[in-house]
Amino acid sequence: MCGIVGYVGVDDGPDALEVLLNGLSTLEYRGYDSAGVALANASLSVHKSEGELSELRSTLPEESLRGERTGIGHTRWSTHGPPSDANAHPHTDTEGRVAVVHNGIVENYQELRDELTDAGVSFDSETDTEVVPHLIASHLEAGDDPEQAFRRAIDRLEGSYAIAAVVAGGDEIFAARNESPLVVGVGDDGHYLASDVPAFIDHTDRVIYVDDGEFVRLSATGRRITDADGEVVEKPVETVDWDAEDTGKSGYDHYMLKEIHEQPTALRQCLRGRVDELAGEITLDDLDGLEHDGPIQFVACGTSYHAAVHAATICRERGMRANAYVASEYAADRVPVDGETLVVGVTQSGETADTLRALREAKRSGARTLAVTNTVGSSVTRVCDDTLYIRAGPEIGVAATKTFASQQIALTLLAGQLNGGLSYDAIEALRSVPDQVQTVLDTSDAKTVAEELVGSDAFLFIGRGLAYPVALEGALKFKEITYEHAEGFAAGELKHGPLALVTDETPVFAVVTGDGETARKTISNIKEVEARDAPVVVVTDGRSEAERYADYVLEIPATDDVGAAVVANVQLQLVSYWVANLMGRSIDKPRNLAKSVTVE
Ligand code: F6R
Repeated sequence: MCGIVGYVGVDDGPDALEVLLNGLSTLEYRGYDSAGVALANASLSVHKSEGELSELRSTLPEESLRGERTGIGHTRWSTHGPPSDANAHPHTDTEGRVAVVHNGIVENYQELRDELTDAGVSFDSETDTEVVPHLIASHLEAGDDPEQAFRRAIDRLEGSYAIAAVVAGGDEIFAARNESPLVVGVGDDGHYLASDVPAFIDHTDRVIYVDDGEFVRLSATGRRITDADGEVVEKPVETVDWDAEDTGKSGYDHYMLKEIHEQPTALRQCLRGRVDELAGEITLDDLDGLEHDGPIQFVACGTSYHAAVHAATICRERGMRANAYVASEYAADRVPVDGETLVVGVTQSGETADTLRALREAKRSGARTLAVTNTVGSSVTRVCDDTLYIRAGPEIGVAATKTFASQQIALTLLAGQLNGGLSYDAIEALRSVPDQVQTVLDTSDAKTVAEELVGSDAFLFIGRGLAYPVALEGALKFKEITYEHAEGFAAGELKHGPLALVTDETPVFAVVTGDGETARKTISNIKEVEARDAPVVVVTDGRSEAERYADYVLEIPATDDVGAAVVANVQLQLVSYWVANLMGRSIDKPRNLAKSVTVE
């Protein structure tokens, strides 16, 4: 968790303060319980405060900070020590010569803290990070130059980090990475550094992805990236195809609503160049013809886990041996893994610690590993043997929306690629999904349903087959942004317990598509809740008689099961959004949550 940013610019370059604050505003999805900046000159100027970035802005003596060209910044999601001014980054040494921002966890911080305390250092915060500036300062005192002092300090750390430091009297930034994302931006007016590209995309689209174990030294006109032994590493400068517009709200009230509306585009991007309906072929260039007939295990968390359940269900329908696992339970489940197993990590951020841990364990047991992610250069792409990008574009809202839809489609393509392609009809249906999502966005009655049902006691979501992960996802999205009690169930499970919750104050959202056995059984479950007076909302393509038992209908175009799962979910996203909006919730940054969960 946490986002870091840095800038070191030429004399007529932009104000470092503005670069840092704007960069941090795009990184708030990584955490937003406190923020801070350090500007470096002959001395350091450090400002930080608890609360969102707006709090920091309101306390900054902005005028006196103008004209600086070197600085680092941080937006925090607490791991060690609660949100407070003292625990906010940047952290400094006792003399205030070194300032450090950090994303990750220093696992051996207690040992280092004890050692420094014995040497007479006193600490201002409860964070793990604060040991770092004190370590750097101790090496400076011992006569090291700033780069040596930084390297020696980092060499002492165990754990995960993207760390950046500035030293008073210098106009350079020192940085290092291990298991937390770090990208350098190469601009005409200086060098940028951040946890994620949107932080500096206004200034440059030329980037260098820093790898684990690498050290970075940046000045306005120079950069040096070295490995753990100090050897220079020649890294390619890549051009990213995001532009600043991609990271703004484009007139929507919330990123989440914008991202819900971006789904047709995201899905077209995901499919582009990957399907040939005439040949029934899938071309996932990223995977270079990968096929697999051994067991497949999908590991993921949260929304990505729901996409994993979708994927495993499709694989099993196609005769493959596939299961989905919650990544944080993967080790405890003692899932059998060997060289025949393909383990697929589904993670939009590519940084989720639980998922990375499960993949590393699987790899140690000999499995082939595959990342399905949205984030180029993210940690999961380095951990896994292969990567399939979902190509959803940047997602800023903490609640995953377009990345889920893109995962559903990318994983469906993957299932096809792994054993012999998809039928003409299946590919044709997939290609229609973006237009069908657009139809739902243009015609949805979700806002009316939200207005009718807001204020209910609790909200239940049910589905079967591929509609089951949609029910799980509908409930997760709902609770995440409305803070109301919501639960998703396999429709058949209702009668095994959850029915006790059902009253006339607990609306039940039922996803019923097609006209087969699955739809008929779900309709029986709808009757069970209708008999207990629950308001029933059906999300349906109108091919079954589900509407007869519904108080409200959210229509979707008729398509196959995969398409229906994607499109039905869009209706549920909209319901969650509108209920949260009516309740005045913090939709893009729900309380207690962060977009990238880099702790286990
Ligand atoms: C829910 C949500 C989270 C994430 C989960 C995994 O809207 O966003 O449940 O899905 O934290 O994140 P990734 O996909 O980045 O591994």
